[in-house]
Amino acid sequence: MEEKKKTRGEDLLRDPLLNKGTAFSTCERQELRLEGLLPAVVEGIEEQVQRVMNHLSLKPNDLERYIYMIGLLDRNETLFFKVLMSDPARFVPIMYDPTVGEACLKFSDIYRRNDGMYITIEDKGRVKEILQNWPGRDIRFICVTTGGRILGLGDLGANGMGIPLGKLQLYTACAAVPPENLLPLLLDCGTDTEEILKDPLYIGIRRQRPQVDELDAFVQEFVDAVQDVFPGCCIHFEDWKGTDAIRLLKRYKDKICCYNDDIQGTAGVAVAGLVGAMNISGGKLSEQRVLMFGAGSAGIGIANMITVAMQAEGLSKKDALSRINMFDVNGLLTTSRTDLSEDQSVYAVSGHPTKDLVEVIRTLKTTVLIGVSTVGKTFTREVIEAMTEQAERPVIFALSNPTDHAECSAQEAYEWSNGKAIYAAGVPFDPVRLGDKVFIPGQANNYYLFPGVSLGIYAAKPKLIPDALWIEGARALADLVTPEQREKGMVFPPQKDILAISTAVAERVAKLAFDKGLAREKQPKDVGALIRELQYQPDYSKIV
Ligand code: NAI
Repeated sequence: MEEKKKTRGEDLLRDPLLNKGTAFSTCERQELRLEGLLPAVVEGIEEQVQRVMNHLSLKPNDLERYIYMIGLLDRNETLFFKVLMSDPARFVPIMYDPTVGEACLKFSDIYRRNDGMYITIEDKGRVKEILQNWPGRDIRFICVTTGGRILGLGDLGANGMGIPLGKLQLYTACAAVPPENLLPLLLDCGTDTEEILKDPLYIGIRRQRPQVDELDAFVQEFVDAVQDVFPGCCIHFEDWKGTDAIRLLKRYKDKICCYNDDIQGTAGVAVAGLVGAMNISGGKLSEQRVLMFGAGSAGIGIANMITVAMQAEGLSKKDALSRINMFDVNGLLTTSRTDLSEDQSVYAVSGHPTKDLVEVIRTLKTTVLIGVSTVGKTFTREVIEAMTEQAERPVIFALSNPTDHAECSAQEAYEWSNGKAIYAAGVPFDPVRLGDKVFIPGQANNYYLFPGVSLGIYAAKPKLIPDALWIEGARALADLVTPEQREKGMVFPPQKDILAISTAVAERVAKLAFDKGLAREKQPKDVGALIRELQYQPDYSKIV
């Protein structure tokens, strides 16, 4: 820090961590040899934000806005986060899904400078040495991908770097986790996408992906190196190929501080939605009969988290499992099927195999139907009507995205259930009017939870992150929905309040980590006060 304070003149304007641009005061300009290097005007950060907003409004599309914002991050980090935090709900679709997907597809073309680390499988044996090259020492989160399965876009190799970059920006934008403690990292293990390997501008190593054993040995070296170089750092796995993601989470979850947002974050948000639905219907999660429509990585992750949440309400694991069933492209998961994975078999029931969803809902008396099938329009009128026969307030979540993949729309769910369905989707849908009532559908967006849970982790420094912490975060999230909002069918609080939401989630998560004896930090008197003190403020006062 001392070193940095001495930076002067042009070097100061070129350092994104120290640059204030037109906000350098007259005194600072004299003292720091900036006179003549800036126009005459001395502005506050609010005027600078306004100028950025004006620029953004002139851009023709969100990809151009993304590129502009990345350019701003390269010039002035404080202003970048001030803009992002001024309206996170508006900026998430620009800096993250869906625009980041497009940015990843063009990552090698739009690449300007590094904002994170790239470690290749060819660096095996030297991972620790390379990690030490990162200038920051107090790294508290590494978001790491292999680019193996980027959003719905498949294997993008090193072009997947846009994901850890964007995901960590959301830590700060949505929860005010200080950016200097965050490290985006790409473990470059090649790619199996031929088109990318042929791209002359591709930024990654040109080789096919390794076999599982070789990958796992490399990941083990990385995990060990992180423990040595950044002790207490949480490893956030993101957008790995599904089977790699599940296997590695199983391996490390009970050993080190780590999580996988695709699995646990997604599941946590779904559980929050269910708790929100229970707050509306007055039921208990452990009394529901759940049918997962789709038994892929999202379906399994959600089912596993619901099992733990039901156990937390007092059910045995066996009883919890008996309340959850699954249905996939080949129909109901039954014990007679021979095509099930180990993770899926846990949810298989005896009985005759069937592909008839309506029949399954009636036979199993399903009260909660969760769509994670990737196939749109599969929750037909008959399906919604069958659900409406089973419960006073059936819970229908159509989580597949993009929009044309949603199992049913909000309009369909409310209309076909005569306003009885408690509905949420994976994408935003407009409010729906039925007679004199307006329903506001929820969007199960992961950013409701992972930034807040991460802020809680930041404050408590837990040794491990058990599912209980995610469930506590999910319950905290659902508790933030007001009675008036529940009246409108809302299972999540409004996205515009994301900073307050994340702060409240973090407080409950950190508190539980302290109470369970998981925390490495000493328990403070007031967890909420500690969290607020730790949060990042995008202002210039701390710079000079
Ligand atoms: P996946 O490809 O691993 O699994 C899809 C599953 O759906 C498989 O079990 C497949 O057999 C089943 N399926 C396919 N066609 C079907 C049909 N016609 N009827 C019944 N089942 C069918 O996909 P993954 O990763 O599990 O994701 C599923 C969906 O969930 C995606 O659309 C994804 O966008 C969405 N998702 C939403 C999230 C959210 O809202 N927060 C988070 C994560 C995923």
